[in-house]
Amino acid sequence: MKKSLLLVLLLAGCATPGVEAPKPEAKQVDEMRNVAKVLSTQLGGKLKEAMGTQGPVEAVSVCKQIAPQIANDLSKQTGWQVGRVGTRARNAQTGVPDAWQTKALAQFGQRIKQGEKPDTMEFAEVVTAPSGKHELRYAKAIALQPMCVTCHGSAESIPDGVKARLQAEYPLDQATGYQVGDLRGAVVITRPL
Ligand code: HEC
Repeated sequence: MKKSLLLVLLLAGCATPGVEAPKPEAKQVDEMRNVAKVLSTQLGGKLKEAMGTQGPVEAVSVCKQIAPQIANDLSKQTGWQVGRVGTRARNAQTGVPDAWQTKALAQFGQRIKQGEKPDTMEFAEVVTAPSGKHELRYAKAIALQPMCVTCHGSAESIPDGVKARLQAEYPLDQATGYQVGDLRGAVVITRPL
């Protein structure tokens, strides 16, 4: 064996024990699932209410205001980073998945193809942050429901007024063309350990 290769193997060997990331604990995952649920429930409630009382065009602006607000409140309460990302993003600042979230969404896509229902689909993993510290990453799948097609569906299912409002508020919007049952995105949480 060449000396350099031996050295590489030794170094690799030294680096592995103890450095292997711990597994997420069931209790931690429970806690994050609950926070994801709070976000979905609160936002879903507000959105439904706005759709009913103000109509879908105004509901676009309500969503623009309320969605980040709920996510920020939950982040403050927990000390974690809580948000939503899309398989195609509407909000170009907050909705675009990072590398880990992209991996989680790809995994959800595969699991849906294999017949698993997105309703309870989640993924959690302990990763090493660039700082060297461990952090817990969590994603909960979001599937498209009938109510969502008014703002995320095909061109025919989005009223003209909504299209115009979306174009004005989100000129880079990519989050249309979805059908009921499609993977729309995920609630995502990053929790320092
Ligand atoms: C009234 C229009 C409207 C309806 C109805 C609606 N959305 Fe959205 N959606 C938006 C807007 C506006 C945003 C961008 C919010 C922001 O700026 O944070 C958004 C963003 C999202 C995001 C965050 C990722 C991204 O693309 O920025 C997800 C996930 C999402 N919506 C899922 C859904 C689901 C699931 C439903 C149905 C339960 C739904 N939406 C119904 C307007 C709507």
